[in-house]
Amino acid sequence: MDLPPVTAQPNVFPLSWNAQTAKMEEVWDAAQRENWDPKQLAWDTFDVESYSWEERESIAYWWTLLSCFDASAPPVFAEALIKCYEDHEEDPVRRCFFSVTRDEQNHEQMCGLAITRLLEHPDPLTYTPKTELGKKLQRNAHWLYYNGGRYWTGYKKAVPKYSLAVLFSSFLMGEIAAATIFKQMHDNTRELVFKEAFRNIGRDEGRHMAICMALMERDYPKLPDEDRAIVTKQIRAGYLFLSAVLFEPPMDFWDLPADFIDVQREAEEVARGAGFGIPTYEAKKENWKNAMLNLKGVLDRYDIPFPAIPEVGISGQEISEIEMDDIIPVF
Ligand SMILES: [Fe+2]
Ligand SMILES: [Fe+2]
Repeated sequence: MDLPPVTAQPNVFPLSWNAQTAKMEEVWDAAQRENWDPKQLAWDTFDVESYSWEERESIAYWWTLLSCFDASAPPVFAEALIKCYEDHEEDPVRRCFFSVTRDEQNHEQMCGLAITRLLEHPDPLTYTPKTELGKKLQRNAHWLYYNGGRYWTGYKKAVPKYSLAVLFSSFLMGEIAAATIFKQMHDNTRELVFKEAFRNIGRDEGRHMAICMALMERDYPKLPDEDRAIVTKQIRAGYLFLSAVLFEPPMDFWDLPADFIDVQREAEEVARGAGFGIPTYEAKKENWKNAMLNLKGVLDRYDIPFPAIPEVGISGQEISEIEMDDIIPVF
């Protein structure tokens, strides 16, 4: 009755169902209860022809901007899910990362459904714009896609190098801000199908935030010093990266044409006029700042220095020279 040789680790799968973090089990149960299907929203109430082409292209642009983050999220989390298995993470943590992968897949589907209906075309980059604004927005979309695509190789290299808690430190800030922004968009949007989507997405992001918090509470008290420094840097990188969707893209970090922001603001104004509740510049700034202060409160608890975010008036440790290659952004 000899036993086989010991399996070398890391090996992709654990054969154990340990559970230490009760909070993760709660979040998983909520994810099961709150699962939704973008296809089942009230699409039959959506009369796209009641919008002008300029409005349609402006609203589709916002969904395109969102999809530059949410369409990269399924592979980002699928990669993290594999890491959970290789690291033999506890069972509820594996399930939580599975649920985030599924949620982000829903968000990505939602972007696709909205864009396809608004443009009568499934691809915002190859679609033929109908208006002058639409043409400028398509150019913006190309630039967003180009920038968003730059980090994937960096992310794949980072995943095996860092622990989950370090990888997902900048993610928490995104989740805090996203949960608020989708709530605001739900409150300020007229179109029922979008309202429903924002309510669901906002609720999902709130759960993602809870997962991050639980992970930090579990791992940060014993975080090695070198990891603390990486977290500080990641927060600054996450700010730069996620600003593009949650605030406005910092031009020195995002490689964008000079009139990018003007064009985007013009579209936001048109979309708002059509009852699509994108928060104003001031509201976004306020939201972003609060998310940052929230996160700072969390990091203070674990004595992790917070980076300076002068853009929204937060002082802290100066972090310079962040390149796309250094960041492990997630949304
Ligand atoms: Fe998302
Ligand atoms: Fe998320």
